[in-house]
Amino acid sequence: MAKVKLAPSILSADFACLGNQVEICLQEGCEYVHIDVMDGHFVPNITMGPNVVKSLKPLLVQYNAVMDVHLMISNPDIYLKEFAEAGADIITVHVESCGRLRETVDMIRSLGVRPGITLNPDTELEKILEVIPNVDLVLIMSVYPGFGGQELLPATMAKIASVRKILDETESQAELEVDGGIKVSNAHLVVQAGASVIVAGSAIFSSGTRIAHNIAEIRKVVDM
Ligand code: DX5
Ligand code: ZN
Repeated sequence: MAKVKLAPSILSADFACLGNQVEICLQEGCEYVHIDVMDGHFVPNITMGPNVVKSLKPLLVQYNAVMDVHLMISNPDIYLKEFAEAGADIITVHVESCGRLRETVDMIRSLGVRPGITLNPDTELEKILEVIPNVDLVLIMSVYPGFGGQELLPATMAKIASVRKILDETESQAELEVDGGIKVSNAHLVVQAGASVIVAGSAIFSSGTRIAHNIAEIRKVVDM
């Protein structure tokens, strides 16, 4: 099996030294950088926009890392071009915010960006099944979107396993990313269920120990 990729969510980083903290992640070998975009409408929190993507882009290029943009916003279609131009490599949209999911996915690809889809913990998998063959990444939310530092919802595990089964049966190369509440104590379970990309925010940036140490600890358990 391919090596599991780590995607630090910068939502929990110290924005006063964001570049430095992201560079530590990249030096430690993280393959992705996860950008949580929230609009205060689709979710009750406001975070960051295309400017942050643009500012971090040269650093990610230097380390050959993937700019992984997770849009938790209403009407994502209107912002896709801006995020593509800012340097997104992957743009993931929520089925709950897309009137025509297939069209949004096609629009992302036509902008030269790899499309991802995701769904809230309460949304049934059926809602995205039809579009899975057209995406490069399926993101399973293991918390309700909106805030870092929440506990992983155990019911998510079955959903991860179901998507892994679908991807394997259809010989899909799409990544299976899991996002929310992942830490040293549960990361191996998420990987066992079938994840290929692990998002971690608070476990990397705000667990009280050094970022490099936190990444090494997570890496140890996912590579087991
Ligand atoms: C939740 C975000 C996640 C979250 C991850 O809405 O999409 O990316 O910030 O943070 P932790 O790892 O702290 O749950
Ligand atoms: Zn996210």
